Amino acid sequence: MCENEKKYKQLYNREVKKIENRISKIFRNKIPSSLYKPSEYIMTGGGKRIRPFLVLASAKAVGSEFKNVYNAAVAVELLHNFTLVHDDIMDNADKRRNLPTLHKKYDTGTAILTGDSLTAFAYKYLLLDAGEKPHDAITFFTDGVIKVCEGQSLDADFEKRKNVTIAEYKKMISQKTAALLEMCCAIGGTIGGGSKENLKNLKSYGKNLGMAFQLQDDYLDIAGEENHFGKPIGGDLIEGKKTFLLLKALEVAKGKNKNELIKVVKNNGINKKDVLKYKLIYKDLGIFEITKKEIARYTRKALNAAKKLNNDEGKNLLICLAEDLLGRKK
Ligand code: IPE
Ligand code: IPE
Ligand code: MG
Ligand code: MG
Ligand code: MG
Repeated sequence: MCENEKKYKQLYNREVKKIENRISKIFRNKIPSSLYKPSEYIMTGGGKRIRPFLVLASAKAVGSEFKNVYNAAVAVELLHNFTLVHDDIMDNADKRRNLPTLHKKYDTGTAILTGDSLTAFAYKYLLLDAGEKPHDAITFFTDGVIKVCEGQSLDADFEKRKNVTIAEYKKMISQKTAALLEMCCAIGGTIGGGSKENLKNLKSYGKNLGMAFQLQDDYLDIAGEENHFGKPIGGDLIEGKKTFLLLKALEVAKGKNKNELIKVVKNNGINKKDVLKYKLIYKDLGIFEITKKEIARYTRKALNAAKKLNNDEGKNLLICLAEDLLGRKK
């Protein structure tokens, strides 16, 4: 259980402000503005900043200090935003964080280049904190990037495939999303000088939190509220994404519901006007409850890993974050 949630939230907000203050200076007035205005647009346009916070909390959880990892925290947020910019091109997404996506505001070429450049900046910031022996931090980082690309590739493959299993879906999200959260914890832990045992537990925490996080993103994509979520509701169904919700619904549905669900797969997606119809089918089948249980199950796994860490303050931050995310609406 999270101890002193109020204090945790104050600390989260305070640390996120510090990170955002650093982020706001990276691209300010930099030339060429054709590259750096879009970079500034994506980096300062909101976001929960959970990945940088994971770096900070993980460093603390191995007995280090926030100040040793602020640049690494900035690095993971740069990398995350690269993945978002390219993801929005791949997913035909018009809106993120309640703002036009970068390729809509500018153009696709600009979005590709901005994403590439954000990755390079991420390495630059990581190196500022990685110390004299940056091997481990850079390895975790690079492996994280490779995993995300592999996961994103599978995600795109699955849009066209008719017979994706829930096991395949889980493997895919473990790469496209959980690997990055795991990486954040590993980087905070390794720069913080954590032991092998601590790193193992941090990685397990990050990975399971990441699984819960993507399941919840899929859930909010249909059950959430657009103003909170910041992305259009039903986007996954429109794009024909094989989410946990769709795969589970296909598994449990019978008769008319099943026929409607099979149409999503057959047509590689649905029309925007049918989103509500499918939301009602999910409701009817109890898919939202099943998904929430699955999210809670992965969160419990994350909490169990966090409990094995030995710095009480850092451990509590990770526990509070995992519990807090359970109630997220965005
Ligand atoms: C969105 O990540 C991409 C996923 C992995 C689901 P976040 O929900 O953390 O996005 P921001 O940074 O808070 O907008
Ligand atoms: C996120 O998956 C994966 C990334 C690596 C960015 P989604 O495609 O579900 O993320 P959102 O919903 O667009 O943020
Ligand atoms: Mg995607
Ligand atoms: Mg997307
Ligand atoms: Mg999503």
